[in-house]
Amino acid sequence: MTGSEVSTPADPATPLPVQAVVLVGGQGTRLRPLTLSTPKPMLPTAGLPFLQHLLSRIRSAGITDVILSTSYKASVFEEYFGDGSKLGLSIQYVTESEPLGTGGGIRNVYDSIKHDTVMVFNGDVLSGCDLGAVLRTHEENDADVTLHLVRVGDPRAYGSVPTDDEGRVTAFIEKTQDPPTDQINAGTYVFDKSIIEQIPADTAVSVERQVFPTLLRNGNRVYGYVDATYWRDMGTPEDFVRGSADLVRGIAPSPALSGHRGESLVHEGAGVAPGALLIGGTVVGRGAEIGARARLDGAVVFDGAVIEAGAVVERSIVGFGARIGPRALIRDGVIADGADIGARCELLRGARVWPGVEIPDGGIRYSTDV
Ligand code: GDD
Ligand code: MG
Repeated sequence: MTGSEVSTPADPATPLPVQAVVLVGGQGTRLRPLTLSTPKPMLPTAGLPFLQHLLSRIRSAGITDVILSTSYKASVFEEYFGDGSKLGLSIQYVTESEPLGTGGGIRNVYDSIKHDTVMVFNGDVLSGCDLGAVLRTHEENDADVTLHLVRVGDPRAYGSVPTDDEGRVTAFIEKTQDPPTDQINAGTYVFDKSIIEQIPADTAVSVERQVFPTLLRNGNRVYGYVDATYWRDMGTPEDFVRGSADLVRGIAPSPALSGHRGESLVHEGAGVAPGALLIGGTVVGRGAEIGARARLDGAVVFDGAVIEAGAVVERSIVGFGARIGPRALIRDGVIADGADIGARCELLRGARVWPGVEIPDGGIRYSTDV
């Protein structure tokens, strides 16, 4: 890569000579049962598949050549995004017959890569990171690989990535109980294409546990780009609910969302009865129905779901076509597609209801009062 290639400010008319690769092949285990029917990056988030927010950010940075590295439920992505032209992108799809992991998923797209500079994205990250600045840092350091890094309160669920005074990465330790730093891998990397060729082909490889440690051992030039913009991995119900609410309220950036953002977002064809209260970044999907005096605070209600009169839904996800009965309470829960929660039920603290399960009126309580 020569300096001038990526130093140019992003101009939509002149795409950057940079290849985007988005890893979207994971099974989304921590978001089950929602991910039994929908792959994690396609879950509706503020009314759009999550991946659309990420793709619009890639496009806004001036990158147009995108490869989706797919495995789990691969066909869903192509059915929705097609060739990408509606988003101003050119999207290719490369599918693993067996899951190859994060490193294998990068290696597997090698033959389709058009540019020498490759920006790789975890497909579940919501962020305001300046992608052009990451590319410039990569170029200035003459790096082989550059990682976007952020600081978090609890680094144990992430890759811990210490750097030296020059910003050079000194170690990469994935998901340890004893992280050496609160600076973590934010899930966006710049790779020189030649480095990707060195990853073993046709075999399962973890970029975090194998590729990065090997590069460091071999003395490759691996650098960090640290920033403090909005950042969230959407991989757990808690984070998914928070990220969705932050998008609705305008706390999290997304070029895919235009116009006013406020306490709630109600999509077309949804019905909200008088006296219902929608706050905390609640989103109501197409054709959903919210009954009188229902209270939704930070709720994510997918298309066609029904929240009956007087029900309370707090920081929870209600799947496609699910029903929450009158005066039921759902707090920090996940209700899968088509589930039916009877009147006055209480589901709290991480409760997860599987698709189509029916709970009778008053069938589950967490307290003895009422
Ligand atoms: N193609 C393909 N094949 N993609 C995969 C595979 C696979 O076998 N396995 C996982 N992916 C994709 C997922 O779909 C996701 O977009 C991305 O790779 C990362 O997987 P996650 O399962 O979300 O990883 P994580 O959240 O536990 O940890 C990763 O992200 C953190 C930051 O969000 C790691 O990269 C951590 O180091 C990092 O801190
Ligand atoms: Mg993740």
